[in-house]
Amino acid sequence: MTRDNSIVVDKLVREFKKGPRAVDGIDLHVSPGEIYGFLGPNGAGKSTTVLMLTTLLPPTAGTALVGGYDVRKEGAKVRSVIGAALQEAALDPLLTGRDHLRLQTMLQAVPRSERKARQNELLERVGLTEAADRKVRGYSGGMKRRLDLALALVHRPSILFLDEPTTGLDPQSRTALWAEVARLARDDGVTVFLTTQYLEEADVLADRVGIIDNGHIVAEGTPGDLKAEIGRPSVHVLPCNPDESPKINELLSRFGEPLGDDGDVAVRLRDGYRLADVIRAMDGEGVVVDDVELRAPTLDDVFLAKTGRTLEGAADGEQDGVPAGARARRR
Ligand SMILES: Nc1ncnc2c1ncn2[C@@H]1O[C@H](COP(=O)(O)OP(=O)(O)O)[C@@H](O)[C@H]1O
Ligand SMILES: [Mg+2]
Repeated sequence: MTRDNSIVVDKLVREFKKGPRAVDGIDLHVSPGEIYGFLGPNGAGKSTTVLMLTTLLPPTAGTALVGGYDVRKEGAKVRSVIGAALQEAALDPLLTGRDHLRLQTMLQAVPRSERKARQNELLERVGLTEAADRKVRGYSGGMKRRLDLALALVHRPSILFLDEPTTGLDPQSRTALWAEVARLARDDGVTVFLTTQYLEEADVLADRVGIIDNGHIVAEGTPGDLKAEIGRPSVHVLPCNPDESPKINELLSRFGEPLGDDGDVAVRLRDGYRLADVIRAMDGEGVVVDDVELRAPTLDDVFLAKTGRTLEGAADGEQDGVPAGARARRR
């Protein structure tokens, strides 16, 4: 059989003894060079999936081929073709960024004559050239994530796993990381499997998105396809006179299902209706409004439609000992 940098997963399960079925029979097919966004709230099963695909956790059932190698039976071969930046980066605060890269080039058996150049190239690529000789202790969260990415790239992997690479990062570091991930896929043909809790990240970066919730994949497709599947845009009306809200609500409900929105009156358009129809009806009945807006569906609408919750709401709670409030600073 041919080896390529794809990921093929069939009915993969991971059960924890004193816990839930963290991953409950998922199928995945990630093509070579594709950026696959694995989107879901805290506790959905993202990290457990990544740990199985990177051979760090044995599956309870099912199969997974990574780069054509079986994660159960060919662990060493899988590890030789993948790079991984996991959620808990194992960096030594007392070593510098360059120290970490030096160790990693040795561990990965980069030929001695090439090590220095490789270190410098990677430091440059993740924007750590200036900070290279400072101890990691003084690095920001974003710098640590970027160092972790550089470490994952030392042996030129053809498949890259990134577990929530931008959680907690400031917008600038996030954008820089996105650019590098996109470059890796585009220029080097690297397959990227990336987990995220951020709809925007999946939308901007991923060629295809899988939404995971409670160990199940509840939706999969390109961001565009997923939105098109939910399909219908919504119309939001801001009444001039709040007393007219019930009347507008009644009028709008002829065109679709009402949405409980705050401040405005909103409806998800039924097939065949357009914004113009709503405006004509409002004109016809002499309704005066401050504002009318047509909103295209977002991945958040997709998540809501598939799970009955919003991703933001579903992500409430605590993970990794970090209170939800602290994590909410991410935006
Ligand atoms: N080692 C473990 N032992 C028991 N339960 C676990 C363990 N690791 C994860 N879980 C549980 O499995 C579920 C999925 O966790 P995880 O894969 O870390 O989710 P995510 O990465 O999407 O936040 C959660 O309910 C979590 O509490
Ligand atoms: Mg996780």
